[in-house]
Amino acid sequence: MIPHIKQVRIRNYKSIGQLNVRLEPFTVFVGPNGSGKSNFIDALAFVKDCLADSLESAFRKRGGIGAVRRRSAGHPTNIEISIVMDLGDSRLASYSFRISAMFEKKFSVAFERCKVQGLFEKEHEFKIEEGKFVKEIAGIKPKLSLDRLGLYAASATEGFRHVYDFLTSMRFYSIIPKELRELQESDQGDYLSREGSNAAAILRRLKKDEQSAWRYKRLCNLLSKVVQGIDQVEYHPVGQKETIQIKQDVGTKYPWTFDALNMSDGTLRILGLLLAVYQPGFHSVIAIEEPESTVHPAVTEIIIEVLMDASNERQVLITTHSPDILDYKYLQDSQIRIVTMENYSTLIAELSQSSRQAIREHLYTPGELLRSGELTPDIEKAKEESRKQLILFPSQSRA
Ligand SMILES: Nc1ncnc2c1ncn2[C@@H]1O[C@H](COP(=O)(O)OP(=O)(O)OP(=O)(O)O)[C@@H](O)[C@H]1O
Ligand SMILES: [Mg+2]
Repeated sequence: MIPHIKQVRIRNYKSIGQLNVRLEPFTVFVGPNGSGKSNFIDALAFVKDCLADSLESAFRKRGGIGAVRRRSAGHPTNIEISIVMDLGDSRLASYSFRISAMFEKKFSVAFERCKVQGLFEKEHEFKIEEGKFVKEIAGIKPKLSLDRLGLYAASATEGFRHVYDFLTSMRFYSIIPKELRELQESDQGDYLSREGSNAAAILRRLKKDEQSAWRYKRLCNLLSKVVQGIDQVEYHPVGQKETIQIKQDVGTKYPWTFDALNMSDGTLRILGLLLAVYQPGFHSVIAIEEPESTVHPAVTEIIIEVLMDASNERQVLITTHSPDILDYKYLQDSQIRIVTMENYSTLIAELSQSSRQAIREHLYTPGELLRSGELTPDIEKAKEESRKQLILFPSQSRA
C-alpha cells in the first residue's frame, strides 16, 4: 500500500463541528455548494502550512484565527485536528494537535501528540501539553514554545522524520487558467503552486530532469489527446520572467507556436492539472478542487483516468460536482464521500445502504443518483464515527 492518510478527525475548523472520516488512496468528495468540501481539504492544507511555515502564517493566510475557528452558538475555542497515516512500510502514525483561541486574536498550542507504531519495531511517541513535554522526544531536548508545533523539532530524529515529511509534502490545487496565462516570476520550481502560478518553472524542471523524461512525454501526449493538434508544451524565458509555449501541428512545414497568452482556459487548466500530477519530486497527497471545471465533458474521463492512475503512486483527493466523474467505470462506491451540512455543521459520510444497493444492482449509476438528488449519505454512521477517538491498530487498542 502507498503511504496515505487513513483517517482524519477534526473539531471546530470553519464549518466543521466534529467529524471523523476514513480516506482511501483515491477519494472523491461530492456534495452541495457550501457544504464544506473545500473546508475539509483546507483543514489538511492548514496542517501542512502550520508545519512547513508557522501557525502564525497559516492563520494569517486564512484571515486570522477568527475566520478559521468555527463560528457557532457555543463559541468553541479549540481547533483540533488529528490525522492517521499509513506510512507504507508497515508503520502507522498518528499526529494530533489542539489550538486554543485566546483574547486579541492570539492562540496557543494546548496539546500536540505524535505516535509512530510499526508491527515489528519499537514505538516512538511524544506528547506536549501547554508548552511542556508530557512525554519527551527520545534523544533530543528542544525548547518548546506555545505558538509553535513540536513536530518540526522532532523531525530531526529518525522516528518522526517520515511523519513530518509526509505532512509537509501534501499539495493542494485549485488551478486558475489566468495564473498560467500571465508572465510568471522566475521560480525554483520545487513544486507547483496551488493556482499554477509557477507552471513554467515546473515545466522547465520536468523537461530538464532526466528521471522525469517519461513524465514529460506522458504530459505532452495527454495534452495532445485532449487538445487537437498540440504536439509539445515548452518552457519559454521572457527577460526576467517566464512563460509556457505550445507547439501546434497544423499540417504545415513548421508548427504554430502559441504563448500561454493565447491559449484557451480549458487547455491551461488541463495543463495545470497534468503538471500537478506529473511534477517531479515527492508529494505524499495531491488534493485537487473540481478538476472537471472548464473542461469539455468528453475530456473528463481522461482527467479522472489520469488522477486515478496517479493514485497508484500517491494519495489523490478530489472535490467534484461532476456526475461523469462519479460514473467513471473504475471508481468504486467505497471511494466516494458525501459532504453535507447537518445543523449548520459539515458532516462527511459514506454512501447510504440504499444508494449502494441501487448502484450494485445497476438500477442507477452514482452520477444519475447525484443528478436526481438521491445519492444519499449514511448520516447515522457518520455521526457515530464523529464521536469516536482515532485508534492506530484497532485490534491491539494501544493508541
Ligand atoms: N469559521 C467558520 N465557521 C462556520 N462556518 C464557516 C466558517 N468559515 C466558513 N464557513 C462556512 O463554510 C461554507 C463554505 O464551505 P466550502 O467552501 O467548504 O463549501 P464547498 O462544499 O467547497 O462548496 P462549493 O461546492 O461551492 O465549492 C461557507 O458558506 C460558510 O457557511
Ligand atoms: Mg469548494
